[in-house]
Amino acid sequence: MGLRSHEQLVVCVGVMFLLTVCITAFFFLPSGGADLYFREENTVHVRDAFIREELRRKEQEELRKKAEEAIPIPIPKPEIGAADDAEGRRIFVKQMIKFSWDGYRKYAWGENELRPNSRSGHSSSIFGYGKTGATIIDAIDTLYIVGLKEEYKDAREWISHFDFKEAAKGDLSVFETNIRFTGGLLSAYALTGDKMFLKKAEEVATVLLPAFDTPSGIPYSLIDLQTGRAKTYSWASGKAILSEYGSIQLEFDYLSNLTGNPVFAEKANKIRDVLTSMEKPEGLYPIYISMDNPPRWGQHLFSMGAMADSWYEYLLKQWISTGKTDDRTKREYEEAMFAMEKRMLFKSEPSNLWYFAKMNGNRVEHSFEHLACFCGGMAVLHSMNEPNRTISEHYLTLGKEIGHTCHESYSRSTTGIGPESFQFTSSIEAKTERRQDSYYILRPEVVETWFYLWRATKDEKYRQWAWDHVQNLEKYAKVNFFEPFLNSSPSYFQGAAGYSGIRNVYDSAPEQDDVQQSFLFAELFKYLYLIFSDDSVLSLDQWVFNTEAHPFRIRRP
Ligand SMILES: *[C@@H]1O[C@H](CO)[C@@H](O)[C@H](O)[C@H]1NC(C)=O
Ligand SMILES: *[C@@H]1O[C@H](CO)[C@@H](O)[C@H](O)[C@H]1NC(C)=O
Repeated sequence: MGLRSHEQLVVCVGVMFLLTVCITAFFFLPSGGADLYFREENTVHVRDAFIREELRRKEQEELRKKAEEAIPIPIPKPEIGAADDAEGRRIFVKQMIKFSWDGYRKYAWGENELRPNSRSGHSSSIFGYGKTGATIIDAIDTLYIVGLKEEYKDAREWISHFDFKEAAKGDLSVFETNIRFTGGLLSAYALTGDKMFLKKAEEVATVLLPAFDTPSGIPYSLIDLQTGRAKTYSWASGKAILSEYGSIQLEFDYLSNLTGNPVFAEKANKIRDVLTSMEKPEGLYPIYISMDNPPRWGQHLFSMGAMADSWYEYLLKQWISTGKTDDRTKREYEEAMFAMEKRMLFKSEPSNLWYFAKMNGNRVEHSFEHLACFCGGMAVLHSMNEPNRTISEHYLTLGKEIGHTCHESYSRSTTGIGPESFQFTSSIEAKTERRQDSYYILRPEVVETWFYLWRATKDEKYRQWAWDHVQNLEKYAKVNFFEPFLNSSPSYFQGAAGYSGIRNVYDSAPEQDDVQQSFLFAELFKYLYLIFSDDSVLSLDQWVFNTEAHPFRIRRP
């Protein structure tokens, strides 16, 4: 054929193009794609493909069943060598964080929490019923601190598009929203300097403000963002709760300081002023307070644990975070602790375990909660910041004793994990016989206290106790999900999902509760990581942790 050279070139390019398309199609079209292609061409192929697919599905189902029967599930070895030094253990904790983050990322992205066993989203009433990504916001500072860079970027990207007011639905807990959302975003800003986080923190705190429009300024417990309506809990007979209205100041004061918008600090100071002006029965703070102006105390219930705890914590930390200049706050903290030690601190027999009992009027209930174990760390933090040596030593001792008691509640259980609440009676010490108190939901307070004790004393036993807890989490709380269709071995565990709470710490094969709490990332994982890190990682001279373990920078006067 008499083609000219440029025509030859065109034909040549054309032929090569067609060849490329054919080869590409041959190699890259997945079998599903091929089935789809045949569907239009030939119905026989469609039926064949359908039968093949059906057979494959059945085969997978059988494999999955076999795998599930093969319990106990072997725990996959960590990829690193023996985790027998602090460095190895720190990396091990980082891997735990990645493992459970991946589970959340894969199965519950944007939901508040993950159900690791069901591999789906979870939420609890404190979040209302909207999809507000609580895990992302609670975890982001931890992801940043441990250096999970890709995961951090992913979380930041999600948050940058997140509109809290739009996403939140139903009644939200003012307290939980403040410590997890405002607190998490503030610490992300404090760590990174990324203004996006500060803007989001201010948005969240702003939508909470209507809850503070009350006669005395003591805020309501719940707020519905759609209607702006705020209220107390139906079970609290019209009263507010000490730990809730008393754990606002650290976030609100810091937020005002960073944004220059004074409205938040004003709300927090008003609450403090009201409390300062009130008479305290024997120096103690009752749990309930009325919504009147001036408010009145409710029933004389006193505790170091639930419904009281972080009020004391925030007095101490407010003093520290403002550069130890606020003498009123320091004095009120000391007076409260003095009264509690005098009335509520007990030592058990025969093991001499120290604990704070609960009181109802003059009636003493000899139980101590996992939540209350935080107070060991609080005492140690006080000790580290106290100029008077006598007082400093006194609080270090108190911290050590509480850390020891809480460790006993762990070591005296079957799983080595402590229960939600434990008793001291003539027959038991630091244990519980109540089924309803026997659960563990990945709470951090015991490890938190060991973390402060490690920083203050450098006694290796605290690191060992924390490592024991890591191993018990691996044994009882970890949720491994098989993906048998990826049967060729290394990928065998790739569907793994996360960590769950357990229903009974005294059971040798405890049932899991199928909830991966958002505070697992914010608190437990963070304190575990920090206990195996150098003191310079979030130095306690520069950082103070809110009650959700979100670090804020200490302000120097
Ligand atoms: C923030 O706190 C620092 C240290 O206490 C203080 O110097 C500064 O004026 C505060 N800024 C605002 C806007 O309150
Ligand atoms: C330290 O505190 C103790 C106990 O409150 C007190 O007796 C002592 O005078 C204080 N020491 C100094 C130097 O202030």
